[in-house]
Order: sequence, then C-alpha cells, then structure tokens
Amino acid sequence: MKRQERKIDHLKFSLELEDNRAGSGFADIKLVHQSVSGIKPSQVDLSVHFLGKKLQAPIMINAITGGHPSTLKINRGLAIAARKTGVAMAVGSQKAALDDSRVRETYTVAREENPDGVLLANLSATCTPEEAVQAVGMIGADGIQVHFNVPQELFMDEGDPDFNMVLPNLKNLVDSVDFPVIAKEVGFGMSRETILGLYRAGIKIMDIGGRGGTNFISIENARRGEKNRESEDWGIPTAVCLFEGLELGLPIDLIASGGLRTPLDIAKAMAAGARLAAMARPFLKVLLEGSPELLVEYIEKLKQGLARYMIMTGARSIGELGAVPLIITGTTAEWLIRREVDVNAYARRQKK
Ligand SMILES: Cc1cc2nc3c(=O)[nH]c(=O)nc-3n(C[C@H](O)[C@H](O)[C@H](O)COP(=O)(O)O)c2cc1C
Repeated sequence: MKRQERKIDHLKFSLELEDNRAGSGFADIKLVHQSVSGIKPSQVDLSVHFLGKKLQAPIMINAITGGHPSTLKINRGLAIAARKTGVAMAVGSQKAALDDSRVRETYTVAREENPDGVLLANLSATCTPEEAVQAVGMIGADGIQVHFNVPQELFMDEGDPDFNMVLPNLKNLVDSVDFPVIAKEVGFGMSRETILGLYRAGIKIMDIGGRGGTNFISIENARRGEKNRESEDWGIPTAVCLFEGLELGLPIDLIASGGLRTPLDIAKAMAAGARLAAMARPFLKVLLEGSPELLVEYIEKLKQGLARYMIMTGARSIGELGAVPLIITGTTAEWLIRREVDVNAYARRQKK
C-alpha cells in the first residue's frame, strides 16, 4: 500500500515542482547554422532502429508509472501516443505488480495499446534475473530498463539506499537473460567512471538520466513538507554525461535523458551522439493537464522541430546529424575541460 501511495505522491509532486533550475547543460551546446544546406523538408528522415524495430523518430517516453489503479489510464494514454507517433516507451517500475498481481493491468495496458512498438520493462537495478524475466514477460517488452536512484532512496523516509551489490548484480543479470538490459539513472547523471563500470559489467545501453529536469531529491523533500534548493546543485548535467560517456569510445549506446525539453535539446543530444532522446515529466504533464490527443500533437511538434534543426544543420538523417559540428561553451565546457575531454574535437568535425 505504501508503494502505491508513493506512486501517487511522485505523480503529484513531479507536476507541482519545477524542473531543476541548475539546468541540463544543453543551453551551453550550440549547433552550427548552415544557410545553404540544400535540404528539402521531404528529404529529412527522422527514423532510427532501436532494439530491432523501426521508430519514426529517436524519441522515447521514459519510465513514469504503473502499480496504482489510477495509473492505468496514464499508461494507456502514453501507449496510444507512442503508437500514433512511432516513438518508444518505458513503463514505470513493475515491482508493484510482482508483489501484487492485481495491478498487472496498469502495465499490460501499454502493450495492449501498442502491440508492435518498442516497449521497455522497468525494475530496480537490484532486481533478480527471475524478476526481470517476469517483468519483461508481463508486457512482452523488447528489453528492460534497470534503474538506480541512490539519491532518491537516501532522501526518502522509507528509502532503501543499499545498492552496494549493484554492479555484480547487473553482471549476473546480463549473463542470465537473453533480452537487452538498459542501465538507467533517474536524474542525477552517469559519470564516465559509472559508464565504464556498467560497461565492464556487460551493459551495452545506458540511459544517462542527467541533472536538469525532474529532481527526485526535491520530490522526496516535498513529500516531507520540506522546501530547499540545495538539492538542485547535486548531479551531473545531462549534456556533460553524454560527452563524458562518448569520450570513452566504447561500443555502447547512450540514451540522453534528464531535462530535455525542446526539439533543439533533442537535436543537440543527437548531434552529440546519443542513440535516443527520452523525456518523462513533459509527456506526463501534457497528458494529465491535456489529453492523449494533445500528447500526440506535442510529440508531432517535437518531431517537426527536430526536422527543422536538421535542415538548418544540413543533416538528412539522424546518422548525419550525429556528425555535424557543435560548440561546447560555458560551464559545460569548463567541466569537460577539467575532466580532460577534448571539447574542440566536436567543433572541428565536419559532416561527411
Ligand atoms: C512521476 C514520475 C515517476 C517516475 N518513475 C520512474 C520509475 O518507476 N522508474 C524509473 O526508472 N524512472 C522513473 N522516473 C524517472 C524518469 O524516467 C526520468 O528518468 C526522469 O524523470 C528524468 O527525466 P525528465 O527530466 O524528462 O522528467 C519517473 C519520473 C516521474 C516524473
């Protein structure tokens, strides 16, 4: 019951609280305008392949909810929008349904409404292989996101911040299951040390979940009736995570998430080299304060906006967008230079 009530609190406070004002770092990234790219709108192709399926755009509705009866409607709305717009979707943590089969339908609705789309299961990174198999089987998922949320657990009264076995657990999980396992942060970001550790544990896809959007320390503080801004200073901005991770040059896919809000943020993330751009709170807000129809419109506008930036950078495809020059300025550049990432290499590169 406590878990179910917590789900409702998270929905409520995530809508009430603002995005982390410290920012995702994408404001520091600049794409280079190309006046005579010669690309017609009809030539722009936003599609990408992910987990063996084709998406209409490199966008994902990230893990949000499930587990309380009232969340069925939310996952239905999100899944309908994902199907109509051809984007990927993840359900929220399925632990509630592993503990109580009566709430399974709050998750299975996502597959019923979107039989052919990319759908991801979700559990804590401390889950067992058996739990992961059950979660994936429950919704016919294409893979599973396993999240770590140490800061949230530390600031939650009823939290369990015991993640000391997370890397050996993930290694065992990857070795035991035959579906993709995606490691996921929930808004505090992955450093390159984290990404390297996950790669060594066998993880090939990581959702960097950086700082700049939904802030679960603030949400937990708000649940206790506390308000302070201190937590906004914690975490690695999403843009920084992306460049730190890519600099490693590993054969991995990084999903950019955490505070992405606009088509330009998505364009910048894809230009940096992300595989997909994922968002949670904006989709939830449009759905709950609007309707599934408005959510479809909202996602279509993200796609249109992304296509415009592709024309203006001279990129016909997402692959070409990943090779356009970009300039890293401000605090993001300063952070990356201190971490000895070659920020100028991104400015020097030319689209092939
Ligand atoms: C209400 C709410 C519930 C969430 N529940 C989960 C969850 O169950 N599992 C998970 O991995 N992430 C969860 N997240 C985190 C999001 O997937 C995402 O990582 C985070 O919100 C940052 O993205 P954003 O800034 O676009 O919201 C939740 C987010 C919100 C807003």
